[in-house]
Amino acid sequence: MKNPFYQKDIISCNELTKEDIAILFETASDIRKRVTEGKSIDTLAGKILSLLFFEPSSRTFSSFVSAMQRLGGGIIPITDVSHTSLVKGETFEDTVTTFSRLSDTIVIRHPREGSAKDASAVSDIPVINAGDGAGEHPTQALLDVFTILDHFKDMSSLRVTLAGDLLYGRTVHSLIRLLGLFHVSEIRLVSPTELQMPEDLVSTIQQLSISVSQTQDLADAISDTDVLYMTRVQKERFTDPLGYERLKDSFVITPETMKHLPKNAILMHPLPRIHEIAKEVDSDSRSMYFREQIPNGMYIRMALLSLILKK
Ligand code: NCD
Repeated sequence: MKNPFYQKDIISCNELTKEDIAILFETASDIRKRVTEGKSIDTLAGKILSLLFFEPSSRTFSSFVSAMQRLGGGIIPITDVSHTSLVKGETFEDTVTTFSRLSDTIVIRHPREGSAKDASAVSDIPVINAGDGAGEHPTQALLDVFTILDHFKDMSSLRVTLAGDLLYGRTVHSLIRLLGLFHVSEIRLVSPTELQMPEDLVSTIQQLSISVSQTQDLADAISDTDVLYMTRVQKERFTDPLGYERLKDSFVITPETMKHLPKNAILMHPLPRIHEIAKEVDSDSRSMYFREQIPNGMYIRMALLSLILKK
């Protein structure tokens, strides 16, 4: 089996094929089985992962740390830029070049869209985009689709609802690309008009002959959906704080809302959850964010790092 990920950058979901993703998911399922059976894996012993996080993170950062360490590899964790030479005036390019000489792969999160691509242009080791501003977050979308496929074997018949901040949410920008690649049956977009999915992404999906609708009626949109994917209003992307205050509670999932969601549907969220899902919903058997998305994120990242670093 040819490994399409070997020494490759992961910048955008546009660059992935269904065949690549099938190989990744097969590897992730195998790793999940071995980890849950308590078997240790040390295939990346001697390899080093640099984590350059120029923006806050809890899950993605620790998920990559856990993934690399469970594979026997080491990490260089940079979470506080004030401890790097950037504060002395070093350029972003020089910082990336330095870490590319110290490690075998770089995971980068940065507030500027396009930053991961720029990092990959100067790095001679693979770069994984862990979020570039409002751009993309490909490993999140991969773990999301992996989770969806655990519940629905056939993506092509799915009706998926994406809700919340679809303008600035990078997880949904990556996810919608994969929903297009897998040719789901229908995509419903629920957001305030100020936070709608960028036009170019909507038209790319429509060109694939997938039906896309935009609405503000959440209860109606979810009444026959298979997947409801909620997102946080991205406070840090607002230039006007009043705009955030006005929009932050636009859509909130409560036990009452869950009554509209079909019994076999699933509720997903990339986390962190702020106001958009009430705590009482966590125990609902359809809620996947804590129970499945978090562990699956680690397995997907273990699989990705293994494939990038070993032939
Ligand atoms: C997301 C992100 O950083 O884009 N978090 C994550 O990585 N799971 C979502 C968010 O911050 O709202």
